Amino acid sequence: MIEPFRIHSVEPLRLTTVEERQRAIREAGYNLFNLHAADVLIDFLTDSGTGAMSRDQWAGIQRGDESYAGSPSWFAFLAAVQELFPFRHVIPTHQGRAAEKILFSVIGGPGKAIPNNTHFDTTRANVEFTGAEAIDLVVPEGREPAALHPFKGNMDLAALDAFLAARETGTVPAVMVTITNNSGGGQPVSLENLRGVRALCDRYGIPLYLDACRFAENAWFIREREPGQEGRAVADIVRELASLADGMTMSAKKDPLANIGGWLALDDDELAERCRNVLILTEGFPTYGGLAGRDLEAIAQGLREAVDHDYLRYRVRSTAYLGEGLARSGLPMVQPYGGHAVYVDARALLPHIPPLEYPGQALAVALYETGGIRGCEIGTVMFGRRPDGSEEPAAMDLVRLAVPRRTYTQSHVDYVVEVCAAVAARAGELRGFRIASQPPVLRHFTARFEPLS
Ligand code: F0G
Repeated sequence: MIEPFRIHSVEPLRLTTVEERQRAIREAGYNLFNLHAADVLIDFLTDSGTGAMSRDQWAGIQRGDESYAGSPSWFAFLAAVQELFPFRHVIPTHQGRAAEKILFSVIGGPGKAIPNNTHFDTTRANVEFTGAEAIDLVVPEGREPAALHPFKGNMDLAALDAFLAARETGTVPAVMVTITNNSGGGQPVSLENLRGVRALCDRYGIPLYLDACRFAENAWFIREREPGQEGRAVADIVRELASLADGMTMSAKKDPLANIGGWLALDDDELAERCRNVLILTEGFPTYGGLAGRDLEAIAQGLREAVDHDYLRYRVRSTAYLGEGLARSGLPMVQPYGGHAVYVDARALLPHIPPLEYPGQALAVALYETGGIRGCEIGTVMFGRRPDGSEEPAAMDLVRLAVPRRTYTQSHVDYVVEVCAAVAARAGELRGFRIASQPPVLRHFTARFEPLS
């Protein structure tokens, strides 16, 4: 497998020393989100908005029409979205969380609950901000980092059934399914499982929404792993996924290959009207939402490239290449590898650091100090704080290495594997952290840490 593109424009990387990085991370309060990105060599913090756009997307940027209302770029965007997700209403937002904010501010509220396979952090925060409860009901395999299962993102249908049966009518305004399940290791959901969720939603009369950020990678996994789906066009699989849902939220910064953007799409006319009213208040007029016309063009083109089979084969294979290299170097990895990221099981690598001393944070800091690699803790720092302020260990303590789309080459990945191997070889020397200061919600973005001696 080779990268199915050649490089058209380059960005320089700045090389730093270990001492420079130790100083930089200390000044950042040991929070990788506080670093200057220029002090990072390989930025695996996120695959969100960090991909390289194509020649044709840059051409779209030039074509962008900035008319306030009814821009041709809006109609290009709308057609591209509805080609894959034929929902009646498409509400453009500046990114995924703005779509979540609009949806949950309309359907959420105290006494309500939203089940999901696993809520992403912004999704959970937007649900909880309205006073509603965010419930995670992924299959048991999805919580076991080493368990091999082709669809570890699947919803636990029996648990969902029991949950819905126990709730008072009208208190579950929606069921969500996140494809792929980012917080659970970037694991896909099968078509069969989504059909099962649909059947339960029908039985209880509850709408089903997809959090569809990584829909194309999920569809590729379905094509590769689900019996009867091999040989099918990914775009076709995506349309079937959409046909099972009543609506979706989307971050165009992921699979749609754009640097910004998102949308909320749905079929319900009355609900769409209420959501549009919030959109006008918080984002913008309904034909641009939170975006410039040029962004709408970049997304429209990105959507066409996102379902290209050569691209998806490269995307999923190159991410697995990283995971295989790390596993060979002795790092305990979440299996199988996700489409957009690989996840190191920091709790297994650092058994001497208890979860409430944040083993994921310890590993992420060590990877930065050693090799300038920026990953992201997905564990007790991110999820360990309950709404009442108390702390408990998250289900897993992972470090995510998220791979920006079309951005790094195989030799960059080989370098990352070498650095990780060096850190794993001295894992016993790593120490945990305590939190020195933190905000009330989404603390991982701004908390400051102190190393424990
Ligand atoms: N849902 C999922 C599954 C996500 O992964 C994200 C973002 C969002 C919603 C929110 O979208 O960032 O456009 O507001 N995930 C990024 C990440 C930030 O690094 O995984 P957004």
